[in-house]
Amino acid sequence: MRILSRKNHESTKQTPEPEAEMAAPETTAPAATATAEAPVRPEASEPAPAPVTAPRAPEPTAAVEESSGSAPAETAPSAPAEPVPVEEELAQVEEEAAAEETEIRLKAADLLGPNRRDFDTLPTHQTPEKPVDMADVISFANQKGGVAKTTSTLNLAVALSELGNRVLCIDLDPQGNLTMSQGIDPDKCDKSMYDVLVHDLPISEVIAHREIDIAVASIDLAGAEIAMSTKIGRERSLEKALKEVHPDYDYICIDTPPSLGLLTINALTASNKVIVPVQCEYLSMRGLVQLQSTLTMIQENLNPNVHIEGILPTMFDSRTLHAREAVSILEENFGDLVFKSRIRKAVKFAEAPVRGASVLKYDPDSRAASYYRNLAKEVLSDGSS
Ligand SMILES: Nc1ncnc2c1ncn2[C@@H]1O[C@H](COP(=O)(O)OP(=O)(O)OP(=O)(O)O)[C@@H](O)[C@H]1O
Ligand SMILES: [Mg+2]
Repeated sequence: MRILSRKNHESTKQTPEPEAEMAAPETTAPAATATAEAPVRPEASEPAPAPVTAPRAPEPTAAVEESSGSAPAETAPSAPAEPVPVEEELAQVEEEAAAEETEIRLKAADLLGPNRRDFDTLPTHQTPEKPVDMADVISFANQKGGVAKTTSTLNLAVALSELGNRVLCIDLDPQGNLTMSQGIDPDKCDKSMYDVLVHDLPISEVIAHREIDIAVASIDLAGAEIAMSTKIGRERSLEKALKEVHPDYDYICIDTPPSLGLLTINALTASNKVIVPVQCEYLSMRGLVQLQSTLTMIQENLNPNVHIEGILPTMFDSRTLHAREAVSILEENFGDLVFKSRIRKAVKFAEAPVRGASVLKYDPDSRAASYYRNLAKEVLSDGSS
């Protein structure tokens, strides 16, 4: 409805061609799609490349109109042939415009890549090919800050661990919030993920054993992107480091910084799954297109096996219309790719890190804890399906 849903895309594709021909070519679908589908929220149409199509459509149209207007004079000697070429030309222009529109619409509909149903049809879906001694590596990524990447990394990791899985968390964010959430001061870490990425230190040397195993971050990590910039294979440093610990874990959960720089690229290159936490606010959804571009780049150049496991609505407050609308926009656009689990707003999520604990440890019987337990079940059930 708003961002250009896959459903809408399909339904508009079926618009009969003749109607488009009848209408002035200016009003053909590219412009109509872009405007009609974003009546309430203009920003919602931002991902759709309408501005690109709108100016393009009139060009061929004008050419046709001109040629049809001047046709009688120019083609007067061959009068019997006159109406046919103009109609054919018009049809061809319409066809080209429709093809261009379809192509562009596909890009818009693919805002975040194929949905979960599409993934099921892909022969490369990771399950059958993953070696037994390889952990599932899940990155929590969204370049928008404060959407609950760190909170989700820790609490899902602990929930997976409660269910009997061996789980490692990796703090790949120079802010060190995940490290702090386990009661470790990042400023006091002698060795951290910086040394792993920049100096090829074995990752086992920076793993602390707390409520969960965690490879710690320190403030140094802020300089890692620059330090790695001249390194050969810099995008694969983390992937390489993880080889050592793959056999020891079932899940490796990576917390990424709020950017799409080299640290996040390392995380996505080393992962086979990505969970995208999205705060249930309209503006939070705008960065998803950019994330998708980065992911596509990674899939094409570095890691064809990485895919979006799910979009996770976080900080959901069902009492507000805005939050409910935000979730329905996500569902309209990304369908099954949106997790069924909702992480609702709860003050316990802010309180738990102060105690150096997950919410599941801080208040095991709380509703807040149950949100991530439900998510863990959903992740596990999807993985086994
Ligand atoms: N469900 C929730 N309800 C209420 N507060 C939450 C919830 N989830 C996370 N928070 C709080 O929101 C803030 C941001 O969460 P978090 O640090 O996990 O986001 P982030 O995406 O990792 O941020 P950054 O991009 O800075 O790394 C934190 O103070 C956290 O305690
Ligand atoms: Mg964080």
